[in-house]
Amino acid sequence: MHIFHLSAECYPAAKVGGLGDVVGALPKYLNSAGVKATVVMPYYEKPFVINHSLERVFEGSFTLREEHISFKILKEASDSLGFDLYLIYIPGLLDRPEVYSYPDEHVQFIAFQIAFLEWILKQTERPSILHCHDHHTGLIPFLVNNAYRYSALKKTPTVFTIHNAQYQGIIGWENADYLPQFDPWKAGLLDWDGRINPLAAAVKCCWKYTTVSPGYMNELPVNNSGLQELFRMEHKKGSGILNGIDTDIWNPSDDKYLIQPYSADTVENGKYANKERLCHEFSLDVKTPLISFIGRLAGEKGADLLPAIITDALETSPLDVNFLILGSGDYFIENSLAELKQRYPAQCAVYIGYNEELSHRVYAGTDFLIMPSRVEPCGLNQLYSLRYGTMPLVSRVGGLNDTVVDFDEFEDGYGICFETATVAQASQAIRRAINLFGDTVKLNGFRKQMMALDFSWQHAAQQYIDLYNTLKPV
Ligand code: ADP
Ligand code: GLC
Repeated sequence: MHIFHLSAECYPAAKVGGLGDVVGALPKYLNSAGVKATVVMPYYEKPFVINHSLERVFEGSFTLREEHISFKILKEASDSLGFDLYLIYIPGLLDRPEVYSYPDEHVQFIAFQIAFLEWILKQTERPSILHCHDHHTGLIPFLVNNAYRYSALKKTPTVFTIHNAQYQGIIGWENADYLPQFDPWKAGLLDWDGRINPLAAAVKCCWKYTTVSPGYMNELPVNNSGLQELFRMEHKKGSGILNGIDTDIWNPSDDKYLIQPYSADTVENGKYANKERLCHEFSLDVKTPLISFIGRLAGEKGADLLPAIITDALETSPLDVNFLILGSGDYFIENSLAELKQRYPAQCAVYIGYNEELSHRVYAGTDFLIMPSRVEPCGLNQLYSLRYGTMPLVSRVGGLNDTVVDFDEFEDGYGICFETATVAQASQAIRRAINLFGDTVKLNGFRKQMMALDFSWQHAAQQYIDLYNTLKPV
């Protein structure tokens, strides 16, 4: 069995969020479990391509509308990732510094998918399964079934993983001629609400789809993605498999970014040393409880609530607590956080931007991590946080609800949960965290307990293998 993963992101080549982490880890764990897994992604002009040697393995071309497009398939040559990584190079279309947010993003990802299929078509050894991730690769299940040119791939099973159904890649029908010719009777498979919807098309056409937690699987038929009806109709094809974490990379006892690595036995001193360094860097008092947020500054993450949550804690209450925010995204949220930093320089630190190294240091050095998400298909931050002995404060949604157990509710609990993402409920959770901070013995007990939890990929990789084994080419 040889699984080809197709994705817009793959750590360490390109990561914007959790998709990159998952696609950079799952294939590695599949390979160690004896199932060959390969990743194919666009070639971006990122530091990765400068620091790694790439070997050209294929050259091809296709027509996109009227335009002749040449592409190259480049293989990462070091063999150090734990899986084979192929980058599709299309000058002018894929060799960009950023992954997303270009006005012609739809053309970028359509070209990526066509180039992939062109390459595979010419190979004598074909993939056993095409595993597509999110809407950027969502046209592939449709194209292998319905595009005349790819009829030789029709029998190849397709798996589609939904990391986030809020993003669907919707485009107007005037873009249909970017796609290779397909059976016009099948056009309805691409359609949702009168537009081409790659996420919906993938759900309709794939052999099986998965979501990144069982909780999110149950939410999709009722949440507000606009595709509820589709998920109700197709639910028999779906299953929820909780993401794992790459414990080689996220390992507090061997993390090159930490000033003092630590294990569960040394967690109290280890976390204190890391907090001291972090607080020094951001001019915060080390003795005060520190609550951090890491992530995309977007409504689904509840990031727009942070200014009100922080103001409530520091002004209305006021509580003895500090905050550290690491994130980027919505311009208005970025601005209001920058204002907060001005208003409370000694209690609120804000780093606007993406910083992988700093994220490791925050997971290690902060006392609590807050995630007031409105939508959270899985969430990796709370899993990293648990691994670093940092208590998560989470809203009860999707994967957060599947992975964090409230310590007041269950004897074996280890986190703080709140029903919905509101300022009042998050503020209540913060009060509980501050109380717990005052009880060092109890807090350190939880830290050891959290660090002993196992959210590694081994278990999830096996669930994917079981799923792959049910898919036999017809
Ligand atoms: P999502 O994929 O929805 O953004 P996840 O919780 O699945 O959320 O994963 C987010 C990943 O991105 C984690 O690895 C997190 O540490 C990382 N991350 C998010 N924002 C930043 C940032 N500003 N700097 C560094 N890492 C970040
Ligand atoms: C998405 C989701 C996030 C999930 C990640 C990895 O970006 O928003 O919840 O953890 O994908 O699957």
